[in-house]
Amino acid sequence: MSNPSFFAGKVVLVTGASSGIGRATALAFGRNGAKVVIGDFDEKAAETASLITQEGGEALFVKTDVSQASSVEALVQATVSAYGRLDIAFNNAGLLPHTADLADMKLEDFDRTIAVDLRGVFLCLKYEISQMLKDGGGAIVNTASVAGLVADAGMSPYVAAKHGVVGLTKAAALDYATRNIRVNAVAPGLVATPMTQRWLADPAFKQKLMENSPIGRPAEPEEIAGTVLHLCSDAASFVTGQTYVIDGGQTSH
Ligand SMILES: NC(=O)c1ccc[n+]([C@@H]2O[C@H](COP(=O)([O-])OP(=O)(O)OC[C@H]3O[C@@H](n4cnc5c(N)ncnc54)[C@H](O)[C@@H]3O)[C@@H](O)[C@H]2O)c1
Repeated sequence: MSNPSFFAGKVVLVTGASSGIGRATALAFGRNGAKVVIGDFDEKAAETASLITQEGGEALFVKTDVSQASSVEALVQATVSAYGRLDIAFNNAGLLPHTADLADMKLEDFDRTIAVDLRGVFLCLKYEISQMLKDGGGAIVNTASVAGLVADAGMSPYVAAKHGVVGLTKAAALDYATRNIRVNAVAPGLVATPMTQRWLADPAFKQKLMENSPIGRPAEPEEIAGTVLHLCSDAASFVTGQTYVIDGGQTSH
């Protein structure tokens, strides 16, 4: 979908957009007319903002660590300073822990994964919703994962964080359903991004992953972006508190 009038006048915040799903979604919002603010702790995300402006859109990069309250608050403030309001947010920043069975999982890995993947989403919701209440409403999508619905072996902090994101999505949706703020999540299966590059570059491991994939391939990041844009659009005006699974049939087994 690419229609410059679709999100014209809308101000969109995207976290975790230096690469992968966040970058594809930020570009898609830009192509559909939104003003895009990108929050990421990796300076490479400034390239995503440049790509949007090169295509004739408006975008701003704000260096942000989503696990820090002051940083997320500053991101929302920078959005309002630049564009006057906040209409849409895609809370997507995330990382993976090192793989280990639970008893061998390092405490630092647990704490860091929860801090970014769960606390980060909570902080984004907190400051975004505070602003959206002033602006009269909004739409938010959080990035969960199929690991928010079923477990992956060796990934206990990630599974816990993503199950938490599904829960936060429902809780926030209930709190604001009557105040014109919708909150949903997407739950991607395997997507070809830097996060999964190492797995997909190993032919034997990729084969093992594909045995679990009815569609027989990983998703491209753009295939997640399309659903995020839909959930943020007026076409989804009665959808809130839901987690939309985008997994090529993986959890249909
Ligand atoms: N790739 C997959 O197979 C897959 C599947 C399901 C869910 N996800 C989720 O999708 C989201 C995006 O992942 P991706 O696959 O595009 O990977 P990615 O590594 O390309 O993107 C992750 C982004 O998050 C940013 N980030 C990490 N920690 C941050 C922090 N503390 N503050 C701000 N930004 C931070 C990174 O800089 C990067 O831009 C993540 O939440 C991930 O858990 C990915």
